[in-house]
Amino acid sequence: MVFKELFALASVAASLSGSYAAITKHVPCPDGIHTATNTACCTWFTILDDLQANLFDNECGQEAREALRLTFHDAMGFSPETGGGGADGSIITFASTELTYAANDDGGVQDIVTNLTPFVSKYNVTPGDLVFFAGVVGLSNCPGAPTGLQFLTGRPLPVAAAPDGLVSLPTDSVSTILARFADVGFSADEVVALLASHSVAAADGISGTGHGAPFDSTAAVFDSQFFVETQLNETLPGAVRLPSDGLLARDNRTACTWQGFVTDEDGMRSAFAAALIKLSVVAQTTSDLTDCSEVIPGVQVDTAEPYFPGTLTITDVDQACTATPFPTLTQDAAVTSLAPV
Ligand code: HEM
Ligand SMILES: *[C@@H]1O[C@H](CO)[C@@H](O)[C@H](O)[C@H]1NC(C)=O
Ligand SMILES: *[C@@H]1O[C@H](CO)[C@@H](O)[C@H](O)[C@H]1NC(C)=O
Repeated sequence: MVFKELFALASVAASLSGSYAAITKHVPCPDGIHTATNTACCTWFTILDDLQANLFDNECGQEAREALRLTFHDAMGFSPETGGGGADGSIITFASTELTYAANDDGGVQDIVTNLTPFVSKYNVTPGDLVFFAGVVGLSNCPGAPTGLQFLTGRPLPVAAAPDGLVSLPTDSVSTILARFADVGFSADEVVALLASHSVAAADGISGTGHGAPFDSTAAVFDSQFFVETQLNETLPGAVRLPSDGLLARDNRTACTWQGFVTDEDGMRSAFAAALIKLSVVAQTTSDLTDCSEVIPGVQVDTAEPYFPGTLTITDVDQACTATPFPTLTQDAAVTSLAPV
């Protein structure tokens, strides 16, 4: 089974890299299985197999989603005014401090920090590298994930806990959210792009009723459905909508980009991939990092079109973009309520 998957991955990688592979020199890894363009990447093949088998189960499930989310909670821990090491893994090393912060004080963040921590010493890698590797590998398990996901290695050890108050909260206003991201160097369009992550999201941080309530009806697929459903004037039974997502969908600084991703799914994917790469190096010196993107598995394509769920139609859209009307979509009458994921 494991071998079958390795061969399947190898053939995907081969078809993706094509001529690139032909002109790049590959060196054998000590494991006797993999080859890499840079020996510094070899260890990540081993970590990949371990994460997939023992944490993610090769799925776009709860742990994969939490790992993707952790990239945000780690990287936003930087501000030109108050400091912090950005994408440095401080959320792991200084967990006893950072996990007390309001933005991190939920079961989802606690769970993934607990589960990733042993990998740092097991493989002698830095926590900053591990956080981003796990996030990107987790995302790669989601059908429809962008191609061209990047993984850079070589972040130094974090030196201190990030200051409190830097990770946006779901109760923040749009102005507060945009200002916080601008402080770290992200435009409003990049914020919308980053929120494509909520296409593969659920409320995993709360226990009891509502645990696992998905953010859209396709929580295991990285697609535009999240951008449709957040624009509707009601949420499906069983779904959860963050106040911040509802507001960003309706604010004139973000609404047209939000709506634009409904029809331009490939544009959404590439904008997200670019913004995630930027997130992965917040406050890091990129020239010191080594590109190990070759370790990231190939992704499964998703070609399904976005739709209106249940009995909802275009009349249920809270039209917010004044420049362009909301697109006409087909209806999927079977989607009337959502089960926890
Ligand atoms: C305005 C900015 C953001 C806010 C306020 C926000 C807030 C939240 C909240 C409250 C949850 C649900 C927590 C739970 O109950 O488990 C969540 C889930 C999630 N967020 Fe965000 N988020 C933001 C941006 C991002 C970014 C930039 C990323 C990644 C690049 C991200 C990735 C995720 C993922 C993957 C989940 C699902 C976690 C799971 O299913 O376990 N979020 N977010
Ligand atoms: C957005 O709306 C606010 C008020 O709701 C208005 O003051 C502002 O000029 C608008 N901006 C744009 C770009 O339309
Ligand atoms: C949503 O909009 C539709 C069409 O305008 C309306 O009939 C319905 O009552 C609205 N639902 C809510 C929850 O506001």
